[in-house]
Amino acid sequence: MSCGKIDSFLEKTIVPSFSSLGIRIRSRLYPWPELSSYCLKGQTVLLTGGTSGIGKAAAKRYAQLGATLVIIARNPDKAQQLVNELQSASGNNDIHRVIADLGQQQEVRTAAIEIADKWPVIDVIAHNAGALFNKRQRAENGTDLSVELMVATPFLLTGLLLDCLTNKPAVDDTQGQSPNAVRTPARVITMSSGGMYTEPLNASRLEMRDANYQGASQYARAKRAQVVLNEMWAERVPAEHVVFHALHPGWVRTPGITEALPGFSKVLGPLGLLRTPDEGADTLLWLSADACAQKTSGGFWHDRVERDIDMSNKTRKADSPEQRTALWQWCESQTGWQFS
Ligand SMILES: NC(=O)c1ccc[n+]([C@@H]2O[C@H](COP(=O)([O-])OP(=O)(O)OC[C@H]3O[C@@H](n4cnc5c(N)ncnc54)[C@H](OP(=O)(O)O)[C@@H]3O)[C@@H](O)[C@H]2O)c1
Repeated sequence: MSCGKIDSFLEKTIVPSFSSLGIRIRSRLYPWPELSSYCLKGQTVLLTGGTSGIGKAAAKRYAQLGATLVIIARNPDKAQQLVNELQSASGNNDIHRVIADLGQQQEVRTAAIEIADKWPVIDVIAHNAGALFNKRQRAENGTDLSVELMVATPFLLTGLLLDCLTNKPAVDDTQGQSPNAVRTPARVITMSSGGMYTEPLNASRLEMRDANYQGASQYARAKRAQVVLNEMWAERVPAEHVVFHALHPGWVRTPGITEALPGFSKVLGPLGLLRTPDEGADTLLWLSADACAQKTSGGFWHDRVERDIDMSNKTRKADSPEQRTALWQWCESQTGWQFS
């Protein structure tokens, strides 16, 4: 049986695929380059959710690979402590923090101004911040907080920083072999979740009603919207300027999952089935660094392989052009940022 066939069989079985077994089997099936073999010197990476879990593991690796790393975080002390830790562990002093609560659009706007001023060229945006709220929480503007945090403000941040992403200058990476400098696209990468397979796209019901609110379903709706928006950005922005990718990390042992799904962690944790944060961050880092990720745009990835965004007819049928247009319009009217 070919590696691809073994992998698709694994994917259909869900538990082995999403658990720690998935990445351990796939990393043996395929000739994966080690993350340590990449170099991000001279590249500016903007990361959200870097203070915990998967994002923290990613931040460590971005720092080791030499990136100019800009971490957007809401807690100034936690962010500064992380910057100090990363600098001393990696020896890379080009690590910075920008403070913003990503549940608050005004803070995102202010952060985007600061970022565009200090780092006018951005190579990678990693939208990783996210949370599952078992009890409904609302953003300052009244919107469901998971929708605001994972759908509206990443859309706004990408929109406000689009010029920085398309500003990438051409570089001569041919050691003088070619007279033409090469321009490579910037990358926008969104950390979604396999939970999105359970919820169809429904732009008018992006926010659940209070009466039937369920944290896991609300989370999955927001994560579905992220994956669809990833494809829509890719349709709108030429891939020679910016490529867009979304991914799901599998089930990862992080403070976020322990708090949101304690029962799940209690069962899978002792069995060794939760991935480590490093394993959870692997595909995000690979998409940030490997040249393969600059050749396509709009894909949804898991364990370094592009995946279907649907596992059932229910979600496939619901994903219509009308729903997609309505989702994009919702983002524009929610944030006031318009694509032109
Ligand atoms: N763990 C899993 O199994 C799993 C599975 C599928 C998808 N994911 C996704 O992976 C991403 C990372 O999750 P994780 O498990 O690593 O969770 P985590 O340990 O809870 O980390 C979440 C990160 O998001 C930040 N964040 C949350 N709300 C924020 C806000 N309002 N403003 C700014 N930052 C905010 C947190 O900042 P603070 O440190 O300030 O709290 C933290 O850095 C999320 O998008 C999650 O949905 C995780």
